[in-house]
Amino acid sequence: MGSPPPSAAARLDEGARVFSATCSGCHTLAPGPSPQLTGGGLRDYRLTPGQVAGFVKVMPLPRRLSAREVEAVSSYVAHVERGP
Ligand code: HEC
Repeated sequence: MGSPPPSAAARLDEGARVFSATCSGCHTLAPGPSPQLTGGGLRDYRLTPGQVAGFVKVMPLPRRLSAREVEAVSSYVAHVERGP
């Protein structure tokens, strides 16, 4: 059984929430440099979701993310970086 996989749109939505709750203290997805944030802007990269996930695993996060949250936030960041 188990619930069906979330749709792509729902996953991006969840990723956006995870990003603002967990990453936005150190990163922004707004274009351009963000010298006031420790981790800076992520918008000007072109990372794949897998590459983002690799970084997420080594970030000093305020709380542990579930595998599903890591996947959601990684898809979201890669999606925003690539543009609509
Ligand atoms: C406590 C601060 C902090 C938090 C929270 C944090 N990061 Fe980072 N992150 C950093 C720092 C510092 C770097 C290294 C920046 C550098 O050297 O350019 C980094 C690097 C990265 C990189 C590689 C690109 C780069 O600039 O080097 C990605 C991708 C990334 N973080 C994604 C995330 C995501 C997604 C989250 C939330 C799940 C997150 N980070 C949470 C501090 C943080």
